[in-house]
Amino acid sequence: MASNNLSLILLTLTPFLFLLLAPQTQATQAQPAASGTANLTATLELGGQYTTFIRLLNETQQIIQIQSQLNTTTQGFTVFAPTDNAFQTLTSGAINGLTVDQKVKLILYHITPKYYTLTDLLTVSNPVSTEASWGLNFTGHGNQVNVSTGVVETALNNAVREQFPLAVYEVDKVLLPLELFGAKSPKSAPSPKSSKTSPAEIPSPAATEADAAQSPSHSKNGAAGMNVGLGMVIGLGLICMGAMS
Ligand SMILES: *[C@@H]1O[C@H](CO)[C@@H](O)[C@H](O)[C@H]1NC(C)=O
Ligand SMILES: *[C@@H]1O[C@H](CO)[C@@H](O)[C@H](O)[C@H]1NC(C)=O
Ligand SMILES: *[C@@H]1O[C@H](CO)[C@@H](O)[C@H](O)[C@H]1NC(C)=O
Ligand SMILES: *[C@@H]1O[C@H](CO)[C@@H](O)[C@H](O)[C@H]1NC(C)=O
Ligand SMILES: *[C@@H]1O[C@H](CO)[C@@H](O)[C@H](O)[C@H]1NC(C)=O
Repeated sequence: MASNNLSLILLTLTPFLFLLLAPQTQATQAQPAASGTANLTATLELGGQYTTFIRLLNETQQIIQIQSQLNTTTQGFTVFAPTDNAFQTLTSGAINGLTVDQKVKLILYHITPKYYTLTDLLTVSNPVSTEASWGLNFTGHGNQVNVSTGVVETALNNAVREQFPLAVYEVDKVLLPLELFGAKSPKSAPSPKSSKTSPAEIPSPAATEADAAQSPSHSKNGAAGMNVGLGMVIGLGLICMGAMS
């Protein structure tokens, strides 16, 4: 009986509860940077031609980092999204040869922790900080903005999204940082010839690190030297003992 009465009361009150809640719901939706308004993955997926970039963002777990920061940012983010074509023109070892840490840095080099419109980028002061340790340079030519890493330069053609807190601009080249690709660029510059060589033949930062890892041969020599020294001491001791007896 009592529960029936309660249900009745709730039923009669329900429309009023909605009335009470409705203005609050509208208020939260009106805030431009309200959480969930910018979805990086969804924005890139809508573009349709950034599947490699999405895969790398996901594989390096950076999508989680950036998306959670997008939910709370006051500065916003700008993302330079290389097309699938851009990745395809790289030599086959260029990305696969990177260590996990280098892949993370390469991806973060495509993201600035600040929202820029194309108009902002026409006159921004260089270098512009990225989420990696290195900056990007932007040059304006009339209405055209070019971005440069020191290894590659390309034009920002297409604004996939230009609305705070997230700007996404398409680039038709992967933004290769000078710090990862600079020294090797003469050898691994994309050319029809080098794209046919096997990944193993292409010098990669990973290979350089492996070379460096082999350098402890010095310490092995050191240990060997110590053994010789110890042998001589023991030998001398034996000779002395022999001389004494
Ligand atoms: C963002 O979009 C992706 C792909 O459309 C979806 O899987 C994901 O759930 C969305 N994330 C949020 C927080 O809405
Ligand atoms: C993202 O990466 C996880 C593993 O880290 C994988 O299980 C998942 O399928 C990936 N998602 C996409 C959309 O690539
Ligand atoms: C971002 O906010 C949306 C909506 O509030 C939420 O669903 C999502 O889980 C949040 N994403 C992260 C990575 O915090
Ligand atoms: C970027 O611009 C700064 C300042 O103009 C300059 O010092 C630096 O060498 C430039 N870097 C690249 C990679 O072009
Ligand atoms: C901008 O970059 C493109 C390469 O994508 C180049 O062809 C063009 O000359 C550059 N523009 C200027 C004014 O340097």
